[in-house]
Amino acid sequence: MLDSKLIREAAELIRHSRYGVAFTGAGISVESGIPAFRGADGLWNKVDPIYFEIDFFRKKPYQSWKVIKEIFYDKLSDAEPNISHHMLAKMGERGFIESVITQNIDHLHSKAGSKPVYELHGTYKQLVCIECQSEFDLNFANFDFLPPTCYVCKGILKPDMVFFNEPIPHFAKKRSFEQAEKADVFIIIGTNAEVFPANTIPVKAKETGAKIIEINIEPSQFTESITDIFLNGKATEVMSALGALLYLDDY
Ligand code: APR
Repeated sequence: MLDSKLIREAAELIRHSRYGVAFTGAGISVESGIPAFRGADGLWNKVDPIYFEIDFFRKKPYQSWKVIKEIFYDKLSDAEPNISHHMLAKMGERGFIESVITQNIDHLHSKAGSKPVYELHGTYKQLVCIECQSEFDLNFANFDFLPPTCYVCKGILKPDMVFFNEPIPHFAKKRSFEQAEKADVFIIIGTNAEVFPANTIPVKAKETGAKIIEINIEPSQFTESITDIFLNGKATEVMSALGALLYLDDY
């Protein structure tokens, strides 16, 4: 059962925010049918993360692509934004938040209309050549033969997602820290805060004075350390309640 007093407190903080920023993880997309990575039904309980490790991918691109195509490309294209993505987009339209920083590669924030969206771990919507770095939109990829190859140099194409042991894209990382430093209200939705360096961004927001609102079905590593208001519930339930209090559906 949602704590209505805390929800009202959070809504007031968001309503009066000078520079609100949202930070999301896999939990916001679970109700769009995309499994989270950790927890009871987590993807990493079913699939070996090695297929998403960059050195393994370079050595055995076919084996990696077979798994990646099944998990992401056969499923994500049908996924739709849920009410949480839509409420964040409306918060952006109303000026309650200025940006969305996401660890997700599912493109659902952009699909819901949020902008700007800083994709810390890249996107499945683009492929990049591991030889010449040419980039191709997903629509140009031919998955009949795996691994897909580059139209320029015939090198192997990789999803433009950050694999394990790969660095976070410089631009997304730089902008995300800038947003965190500017934020006076920072809304964390559906992340368990395990992955570095993404998990240092909410800490930066806290250090530079932001009030932290966290939405999760269970406490994360942030909850006891930086969170000011913990809204314990499913993202869609909490975001619907916040949307009602902020009259987001009336515009
Ligand atoms: N509503 C809100 N929170 C939810 C919901 C929901 N319906 N369902 C799950 N959660 C929470 C879980 O309690 C957990 O804290 O979402 C979080 C999901 O955690 P992870 O699966 O670890 O996802 P995330 O934190 O985004 O992982 C970060 O790890 O493997 C890498 O690159 C991958 O971007 C990913 C990164």
